Amino acid sequence: MTGIKELLLSRIRDVADYPTPGVMFKDITPLLADPAAFAALTDALADLSVRSGATKIVGLEARGFILGAPAALRAGVGFIPVRKAGKLPGATLSQAYDLEYGSAEIEVHAEDLAAGDRVMVIDDVLATGGTAEASLRLIRRAGAEVAGVAVLMELGFLGGRERLVPALDGAPLEAL
Ligand code: PRP
Repeated sequence: MTGIKELLLSRIRDVADYPTPGVMFKDITPLLADPAAFAALTDALADLSVRSGATKIVGLEARGFILGAPAALRAGVGFIPVRKAGKLPGATLSQAYDLEYGSAEIEVHAEDLAAGDRVMVIDDVLATGGTAEASLRLIRRAGAEVAGVAVLMELGFLGGRERLVPALDGAPLEAL
């Protein structure tokens, strides 16, 4: 995958001191604006999903929607949005998780996941792993099975992989 890795890396822009001083923000908008790079990413995510046997793709708000929805179409499976609390109109399952300062909560429509579903989680970035770990809890609480987690990039120095691997219980974590 050397070719695609270089292509994707070349379309990610580093923005210093955003959103706060000392943070190097990884901006994926140049990648989204390049149809060849976006298609290569979509194909890779769809391929990982198909190979994992996923029957549904969960995308994590907000950039996980942009990457997960076309991958779901390409893979021929349904797309399920996991949203920040208070955004979904129907009956939801909610999962809180700890942030460095404070906590956050994500939700999914309860009717969107059920026993028999095998779910691939897609997002742009794995940082501390808190959001992805909470999504795995939601999937399992709904009775569904976790097929894996696939992200565009992993910020290794934040320890997300170490946090997520035990929660994955043998399912793969792929960072393109
Ligand atoms: C970012 C990113 C991931 C999450 C990763 O989203 O897109 O979803 O943080 O962080 P973690 O591994 O430490 O949980 P953000 O919360 O900034 O939301 P947004 O995409 O809606 O801006």
